[in-house]
Amino acid sequence: MNKGLFITFEGADGCGKTTQMNLLKDYLIQNGYEVVLTREPGAKGLGEQLREILLNYDGEVADRCESFLFLADRAQNIETIVIPSIKQGKIVLCDRHIDSTVAYQGYGRGLDLDEINYLNNIATGGIKPDLTYVFDVDVETSAKRVGDEKDRMESAGKEFFNRVRNGYLELAQKEPKRIKVIDSTRSIEEVFQDVIKEFRK
Ligand code: TYD
Repeated sequence: MNKGLFITFEGADGCGKTTQMNLLKDYLIQNGYEVVLTREPGAKGLGEQLREILLNYDGEVADRCESFLFLADRAQNIETIVIPSIKQGKIVLCDRHIDSTVAYQGYGRGLDLDEINYLNNIATGGIKPDLTYVFDVDVETSAKRVGDEKDRMESAGKEFFNRVRNGYLELAQKEPKRIKVIDSTRSIEEVFQDVIKEFRK
């Protein structure tokens, strides 16, 4: 059975990960690979409706409820998109995944990290990305990129942002083989050179 690759794109809001994911997609296709794009929250199908609730619901959302909705979306993405594509030998590029829940709900909202790891493991069935990029930006750069039109998560404030950012950096220290931190305050082209470099490795 052919085995593809599972690559995830992470970082705080406004880090530019989606731009880099699309650039890598074009690069891989040009080099003859079959590529599948997906995202969390909001994979094709049910995930789109879960994303709508997570980003736009304007009533009270309990922290644990928020976590479970992200995890439900993840379980759906892994089972219906990621696993079938990897089995077909494709390269799956996923915009956010397990590390987002650790960074945002764990470091950001303050939920227990062991509990989140345990739940992530249930949601994914134990599958982990082969490679994860963390696009690192400071709060000022992020604010400029996000602009004034913020969704529910992006409205959480500066301190929340910094907790999330530090969460990602700590995660990368714990799992240096899988997680590569890329300085994303630089130009799109410069960042992309690093993206390719890590992919080739
Ligand atoms: P995303 O669509 O990547 O938004 P952006 O392009 O603005 O980064 O992610 C939506 C939001 O959901 C983002 O603010 C991070 C948040 N999120 C979590 O809090 N936990 C999670 O597990 C995931 C997957 C996302």
